[in-house]
Amino acid sequence: MRKKITVVGAGRVGETTAHILAERALGDIVLVDIVPKMAEGKALDLMELRPISGSDVNVVGTTDYEPTAGSDLVVVTSGMPRKPGESREDLLKKNIAIVKSVVGEVKKASPEALLMVVANPLDTMTWVAREITGWPRNRVFGMAGVLDTSRLRTFIAMELGCSVKDVNAFVLGGHGDEMVPVVRYASVGAIPVEQLMSKEKIDAIVKRTRGAGGEIVKLLGFSAYFSPAAAVADMVQSVVRDEKRILPCSARLEGEYGANDIYLGVPVMLGANGMEKIFEVELSAEEKEMLAKSIELCSGSIDIARKLMAE
Ligand code: LAC
Repeated sequence: MRKKITVVGAGRVGETTAHILAERALGDIVLVDIVPKMAEGKALDLMELRPISGSDVNVVGTTDYEPTAGSDLVVVTSGMPRKPGESREDLLKKNIAIVKSVVGEVKKASPEALLMVVANPLDTMTWVAREITGWPRNRVFGMAGVLDTSRLRTFIAMELGCSVKDVNAFVLGGHGDEMVPVVRYASVGAIPVEQLMSKEKIDAIVKRTRGAGGEIVKLLGFSAYFSPAAAVADMVQSVVRDEKRILPCSARLEGEYGANDIYLGVPVMLGANGMEKIFEVELSAEEKEMLAKSIELCSGSIDIARKLMAE
């Protein structure tokens, strides 16, 4: 039987995610948005694309959660996007209210689902989603590291003029400007990146990766969506096909990396049971210091969310 995947939010990230999922025929898709007719129209457009793609999945658009009932996986993309000059934290208050209400509906309609959060500030919103559901940590995780890593891999490949396929890397920490691109672990065709370019070049790439979301906001006037949606689709695929890929995702830490009860980007195994395992990697003193800063920022943001939720 095909998996049932709900995508909440039919904005740019939601619609592009639904498009990629439909093209890859990863499951039947329910697209939800509060704006009347929008999800319905986009779903119908996607239905009519399927003969060209050779994809037989069903795509339904809706404003309510009834058609989402019994979903295997729910992706929450709803929330206000970043505007120029606005930090991810500025979004906190606005998006808590949205995520609270959406996740409450998801919990009622699909009590057995896995839940993937994409709203910003990412790690905090994923924490909020777990608070609302009370589900075990394997069932609630967030997308950001796959996107940040894709950006890091892009910049490394651009610098070397090589295929992106051969660039292997990961980014640790919160999805913010203090994320920790651990370039020491990055390789190209299994050759450590540090042997392929100067420290200055690496530092410039790290800086660009950290600011990559903002770079696009400045150009477009709104957030990136092609690459975030592609990152979500890869995570969905790893779950629905039980690929057990090792990908950096926002996961609830329970002692790992010296942190507790926060969500943070770490390498995990993603499979049929969701976030199946967290990997703790060895870090240098400098990397530990950068990660500590990222943990501090994430904890601060989660503390604000905790207070706002108690109101
Ligand atoms: C970005 C937004 C989606 O990083 O956070 O592009």
